[in-house]
Amino acid sequence: MRKQTLPVVSKPVRDLLVKSAREAAANAHCPYSEYPVGAAVLTLDGQIYTGCNVENVSYGLSNCAERTALFKAVSAGCRCFAAVAVVGGTARAASPCGACRQVLAEFCVPETPVFFARLKGGKVASATLGELLPLAFA
Ligand code: THU
Repeated sequence: MRKQTLPVVSKPVRDLLVKSAREAAANAHCPYSEYPVGAAVLTLDGQIYTGCNVENVSYGLSNCAERTALFKAVSAGCRCFAAVAVVGGTARAASPCGACRQVLAEFCVPETPVFFARLKGGKVASATLGELLPLAFA
């Protein structure tokens, strides 16, 4: 994982990030799982990039929402991130899968907050990336 000093993410910014992820989930292409996911990443300079899961008939080619959001940001030139939000699920909030945790670790630091919530309503949970991916391969 990278080294960087993180800004504190205020509650309004956190809520905006979660709202952005929820809006992105509306674009999910998930005809196979019928499980929409949305994600949003906050760059160090305050921009938000969003993404959704994009599935494929060849299931293994599907892309998770977090990686869609992160790859959009990275391909636009962003390399450092202050926070991540992911929304999915109706009964309980989805947290990032293992593959996405490792990909996030490429551009985030162990202290980076990851917020996760259900698609609609409910509490916003949070953990640091280091808590989600201890002893990351780096
Ligand atoms: N999914 C994500 O988008 N992010 C995750 O972190 C976990 C899973 C997607 C992949 C697939 O399209 C659907 O959720 C069901 O696994």
